[in-house]
Amino acid sequence: MHSYTHLLFFFISLQSLVIPSLSARSLLQNGTVSSCPLNFDALRKLVQGSRRPSLDTTTECQYIRQCLRLVQSEYLRLTGSFLPPLDSAESCWDSYETLVHEFVPNFDIRRSCGFQTSWISQGCMNITTRAEFEGNVTRASLNDVVSACNQSLLNGSPCATCTTSLSRLRASYLTGPSVGNVSDCTAYPFIYAAAFANQLGPTDEGTAKCLFSLDFTSSNSKTNRKRL
Ligand SMILES: *[C@@H]1O[C@H](CO)[C@@H](O)[C@H](O)[C@H]1NC(C)=O
Ligand SMILES: *[C@@H]1O[C@H](CO)[C@@H](O)[C@H](O)[C@H]1NC(C)=O
Ligand SMILES: *[C@@H]1O[C@H](CO)[C@@H](O)[C@H](O)[C@H]1NC(C)=O
Ligand SMILES: *[C@@H]1O[C@H](CO)[C@@H](O)[C@H](O)[C@H]1NC(C)=O
Ligand SMILES: *[C@@H]1O[C@H](CO)[C@@H](O)[C@H](O)[C@H]1NC(C)=O
Repeated sequence: MHSYTHLLFFFISLQSLVIPSLSARSLLQNGTVSSCPLNFDALRKLVQGSRRPSLDTTTECQYIRQCLRLVQSEYLRLTGSFLPPLDSAESCWDSYETLVHEFVPNFDIRRSCGFQTSWISQGCMNITTRAEFEGNVTRASLNDVVSACNQSLLNGSPCATCTTSLSRLRASYLTGPSVGNVSDCTAYPFIYAAAFANQLGPTDEGTAKCLFSLDFTSSNSKTNRKRL
């Protein structure tokens, strides 16, 4: 076993010397090589700590999509990018499915929810980065979002103020086409706000509840208030 591993590494390093960079690039573009840069660990912790109801497929798919947007928001906060690169799309679905299987065995996300592989790397009006997003809206609308959303969003009234400002921004500036329905133009302001307008961030209980409709109230506390 051990010596076989060494042999394998030998061949891999030999190959990387021999394959010219052009074909290495086309190999990457096929989506077979890049690992997923999204981190599902924070989501795993949140889901494990909460009581998770069993859901019908439609509701399950909504829940899975909202959880993915939370993960994308955390990725945006850390890297300034909304979307993982296209060549990592396949491995991102695989990573996510590993987590989902801990709670719903054998659930095939893409097949059951109708998501295409590339959609995890595509979104609204080809906007990929924080700078592109901010460049496509006005400074005033961003200030409006920050003043509405930079507070605890656990309660209904601040949450409503924040989501109203996000809907307003979407309606005024994000009117172009979306690709797919994983993270479309409706979702982008919410993903952005959780990352940069709300100082508590996407994994905060109130932020997750308000901006992603995800209730991660701990299973020890009042579970009768639990909803999607
Ligand atoms: C990668 O894609 C190119 C065309 O896009 C194709 O010719 C090639 O065979 C593919 N390679 C692999 C390993 O799938
Ligand atoms: C996403 O779009 C696909 C294809 O149009 C559809 O089958 C699926 O139901 C949609 N998923 C959600 C969660 O809206
Ligand atoms: C998005 O990018 C693709 C490919 O780069 C291009 O074909 C398409 O026209 C762009 N769409 C918009 C809305 O800019
Ligand atoms: C608006 O977004 C597009 C991507 O869709 C980007 O190419 C462009 O640079 C952005 N505009 C500004 C002013 O940043
Ligand atoms: C949000 O509020 C905190 C504390 O008041 C402040 O430090 C932070 O800069 C504000 N965030 C933004 C984006 O203005």
